[in-house]
Amino acid sequence: MAANTLPGGTFTLADDLTVTRMGYGAMQLAGPHVFGPPADRDAAMAVLREAVSLGITHIDTSDYYGPHVTNQIIKEALHPYPDGLHIVTKVGALRDAEGGWPQALAPVQLRQAVNDNLDNLGLDAIDVVNLRVGGFDSPTPGSIAEPFSVLAQLQQQGLIKHLGLSTVSAEQIVEAQSIAPIVCVQNFYNLAHRVDDDLIDSLAAQGIAYVPYFPLGGFSPLQSDELRSVAARLDATPIAVALAWLLKRSPNILAIPGTSSVAHLRENVTGAALTLPEDELAKLNGIA
Ligand SMILES: NC(=O)c1ccc[n+]([C@@H]2O[C@H](COP(=O)([O-])OP(=O)(O)OC[C@H]3O[C@@H](n4cnc5c(N)ncnc54)[C@H](OP(=O)(O)O)[C@@H]3O)[C@@H](O)[C@H]2O)c1
Repeated sequence: MAANTLPGGTFTLADDLTVTRMGYGAMQLAGPHVFGPPADRDAAMAVLREAVSLGITHIDTSDYYGPHVTNQIIKEALHPYPDGLHIVTKVGALRDAEGGWPQALAPVQLRQAVNDNLDNLGLDAIDVVNLRVGGFDSPTPGSIAEPFSVLAQLQQQGLIKHLGLSTVSAEQIVEAQSIAPIVCVQNFYNLAHRVDDDLIDSLAAQGIAYVPYFPLGGFSPLQSDELRSVAARLDATPIAVALAWLLKRSPNILAIPGTSSVAHLRENVTGAALTLPEDELAKLNGIA
């Protein structure tokens, strides 16, 4: 499938950065609980190669998935990267021995994380680095000027092409924009969790991409009787409806559903092309 025929078409984040709105989130490629190696490394590589062959040009990752494992699999599967493929990563957390996700926002930790991403992905410069600052699923109030300035310096040094933010509030976005431009925001959002509705519209007005994480509910699949009923009437899966709804919600939304399965990846790309009639759309809009 060519990139421009994927559901949702493309979105341009910057002059040198146009991606398919249908992307792929690589977090599920590491081992259980995003820790250690996957049971089947070849299967993980097959998912990445299938994403590229379907025409997807946006892969979301982090060097703390595994840690390091997911990026190393991406490099092994896809390097040298095809023209037009954009890998977006994030820094600002670590994995601890218990599998936790402690913050890692000190300047030395951020510089190390960017260098680790460069090494493990096999890149001289990263297309987009998101500074991830909040808690597991919601922003934590407070200034992000110090960590964001570190990434802005690394951008000036040529190690990062574009900057983004993750798990941030509207106020933190404004603060970051006073330091350097951002091209995307990655926050928790899906059909059933819509705290960011106003933020999505204000980012759309600025031409900034909004990239919802947990688009399918993440570690707990989306649960909604209304979603199930709409899906049944459309003879589709709830996942297809949830993805099609995201692409319809706003043109600046980029979908990065995660999967460790080639079959699910194909289902998601096909499913996201579902047309949602106005009456069903109204029911879905009423879920949250
Ligand atoms: N910025 C952040 O803090 C942050 C946080 C979390 C995630 N992310 C990013 O967002 C991406 C997406 O989030 P996510 O992967 O956590 O959650 P998600 O996309 O909402 O859901 C992934 C789950 O859905 C399952 N799934 C996917 N397609 C399916 C299908 N067709 N049928 C049945 N099950 C299906 C996957 O299982 P299978 O593997 O079995 O398909 C997996 O368990 C991640 O990959 C990561 O890149 C960012």
